[in-house]
Amino acid sequence: MKNSVYCNRNWKHFRNILNKFHCSCSYSAGTASVTPLSQQKGSPSLNTNPNCDSPLSVYKSIVDSGQLRYDEYQLSIVERLDQLHRTLENYTPPSEGLFSKLGIIKKQELKGPKGLYLYGHVGCGKTMLMDMFHQHCKVKKKRRVHFHKFMLDVHKRIHAIKQTIPRQYNVKTTQSFDPITPVAKEISEEAWLLCFDEFQVTDIADSIIMKTLFTSLFNHGVVVVATSNRPPDDLYKNGLQRGNFVPFIDRLKKRCDVLCLNSGVDYRMETLPSSGKVYFLTSDANIQTEVDDIFHEIAATENDVERPKVLEVFGRELLLPRTCGGLLDTTFNDMCVKALGAVDYLEISKEFHTVILRHIPQMTLRQKSAARRFITMVDTLYDNQVRLICTAEKEPKYLFQSSAISQLDYESNRMLMDDLGIQEQSDLSQASIFTGEEELFAFDRTISRLTEMQTEEYWAHRDPTKNS
Ligand SMILES: Nc1ncnc2c1ncn2[C@@H]1O[C@H](COP(=O)(O)OP(=O)(O)OP(=O)(O)O)[C@@H](O)[C@H]1O
Ligand SMILES: [Mg+2]
Repeated sequence: MKNSVYCNRNWKHFRNILNKFHCSCSYSAGTASVTPLSQQKGSPSLNTNPNCDSPLSVYKSIVDSGQLRYDEYQLSIVERLDQLHRTLENYTPPSEGLFSKLGIIKKQELKGPKGLYLYGHVGCGKTMLMDMFHQHCKVKKKRRVHFHKFMLDVHKRIHAIKQTIPRQYNVKTTQSFDPITPVAKEISEEAWLLCFDEFQVTDIADSIIMKTLFTSLFNHGVVVVATSNRPPDDLYKNGLQRGNFVPFIDRLKKRCDVLCLNSGVDYRMETLPSSGKVYFLTSDANIQTEVDDIFHEIAATENDVERPKVLEVFGRELLLPRTCGGLLDTTFNDMCVKALGAVDYLEISKEFHTVILRHIPQMTLRQKSAARRFITMVDTLYDNQVRLICTAEKEPKYLFQSSAISQLDYESNRMLMDDLGIQEQSDLSQASIFTGEEELFAFDRTISRLTEMQTEEYWAHRDPTKNS
């Protein structure tokens, strides 16, 4: 990481961006009415030529205009996206026939076009390419969604369908009720092209429903385009009860061509313009006072007073002690040590355009759960273009220590294994929840994103208003 990330600019640069932004928008008590900056959700602020109407022509024109660096690896991916773009122009998913609806004909697996599963290391441009494809694809029933958010939505729908069982379900039947298939049908009726950003599986509940969910989605003719940091075979690697998940991988590989974007370039580190001072080390003198000043400065531009706020998340109350309009001031302890999850961070992202996160410690395997929440929080804030100001014990690249398991780590793992009835010598003891492997892997992405989130470009072009 370049030194300039930490020292060559200061808060003043971000203050200018903030002022510019506030010239074009006005807030009222946490909600915003704005003239948004040019940013398209999840994509870079690229000006595209209106005459270009396919991913390939768009990509070439942006490279020609100098906004993107020529990258032959990206070009080969764009060619495949372009092919798919053309194929989809002539594709309509078949509607369910009467006989199969009545169950007279056993449902056949559909032979619709194959989607694409694009994987590669952090910052190589996967999301940008997928967004370009999604944006220019003429399919009307299309949906672009972060995978975390999609699965939260699936769980919500399953919950809603289960509520209706007592009325609908004939208790005399011996078959158990399957709420996943109707959810898949509902989703496929809303959109048959699903573009998933950051396809990843870390949750056992997700891993259990994915095979049924995606089999059913594919049977309804859904085409999937996905980005991920992992190849399909590594999804839910070392996850608990992975055996139940493995059939999903085969299904996915049958319905998506798997492409690797292996350029080795992290554009966040390489090409982004100079960064500034929104990431502070707690060892710097007077740092908390300096961040207090920043809080007051941003708060002065909000149409609100400093106050605690309570968000309702899935019927729970999440108390945030210090907020002002679209600004939240909070701590690592409150956000990542307490039992919060993706859904809380999503609500926070909807409510706040700027988050101050204080006292991020250096983490070891002992703080795996907190580290996992921190990774999810950064992913969610990044995906929703929320601005982040941090005070931390170390620079991002040193925040997570991968040192060998200490005696304390060993003992806390031991206790968890005992609680779960897992033998120390068994294969299950190598599950990623004990080894911290998943967190270590995902942390590369967090470092890359924390770096981009400190740049003026992120602040200037990521539209922080949630309701525009
Ligand atoms: N060819 C390029 N030239 C210049 N900048 C690029 C190029 N490709 C991508 N970028 C920029 O690099 C940054 C990272 O791209 P992107 O978010 O698409 O990466 P990613 O592979 O999805 O990363 P992650 O694995 O963290 O999700 C973005 O700001 C994007 O605009
Ligand atoms: Mg991405």
